[in-house]
Amino acid sequence: MKNNRAKITVVGSINVDMTAFTPHFPVDGETVVGDRLQFGPGGKGLNQATAASRAGGEVIMVAKIGRDFLSSVALDHFRAEGMSEKYLAIADDVGTGSAIIEVSSVSGENKIIILKGANERITAAEVLAAEDEIAGSDIVLTQLESSFESVRALIEAANKHHVPVVLNPAPFQSVPDGLFDGVDYFTPNETEAEYFSGIKVTDEVSASKAANKLMENLGVKHVIITLGKKGVYYKDSEHELLVPPPVMKAVDTTGAGDSFNGGLCVALSEGKDIKTALEFANCTAAISVTRAGAAPAMAKREEIDALYASFYGTKES
Ligand code: RIB
Repeated sequence: MKNNRAKITVVGSINVDMTAFTPHFPVDGETVVGDRLQFGPGGKGLNQATAASRAGGEVIMVAKIGRDFLSSVALDHFRAEGMSEKYLAIADDVGTGSAIIEVSSVSGENKIIILKGANERITAAEVLAAEDEIAGSDIVLTQLESSFESVRALIEAANKHHVPVVLNPAPFQSVPDGLFDGVDYFTPNETEAEYFSGIKVTDEVSASKAANKLMENLGVKHVIITLGKKGVYYKDSEHELLVPPPVMKAVDTTGAGDSFNGGLCVALSEGKDIKTALEFANCTAAISVTRAGAAPAMAKREEIDALYASFYGTKES
């Protein structure tokens, strides 16, 4: 780490989220009277970048937006968060990514449709424009909501400069062969773990089997499977762990996994041991679900430290 702040380069998506809070999810053909509408910045990449920045990281984000009115939502967010716009490319022929989200006003659970828009147009050259930033990062982070070309370019550049790579395989989808070569930390949730391993993940035992398959088949070194209220399961070639999370009353679970990944990257970059890093990431995610929205719901460092101390008993090391 070059200064006191962990440096994290995020290559990924920016969406504008339109979220309807609803007393129940509509079934086919049904119209439901919702409770309220929230409109704001989101996208797995921007959520993860915001989580890492608020948790104490110095974040460089490589992303792409359109020239439409939605782009101003993203730009306003970058400015409010003090995040650099230097590697934000503009697409001329396609709009800013967007997401239509339903959130249960009862449970906070969500259903999401994304429209990738400009996220799918991020080029390898646009990623490599940030190669010096990647080389100077403590860790890099990406997901599957932007172009595969951009994901691959980030992994190759990070491998070249010996910078650890965290890949959150969300949303799950068929990917080109070899896309995950060179990934150090692979961070699926249960459904993503099942999609990429072929093993249904419901508990610690099935998570362990899925993690073995993911390490064998994809060559990833560390598997971190988020299991919701059951906690987070970790496995590498020598260790395995199940770390329970603080359970909070959920208002909106959108972006909880993103929050976890942002917090994880900060903790790993700060040199925390894996158990402490997972606990820190659990706290980051737990706070985010108590608030509505995606990027705006991310936790600040002082909140994470306070929850860590009250739930895990000590200040994180
Ligand atoms: O992970 C939550 C995110 O998924 C939302 O912000 C939405 O934009 C979709 O990308």
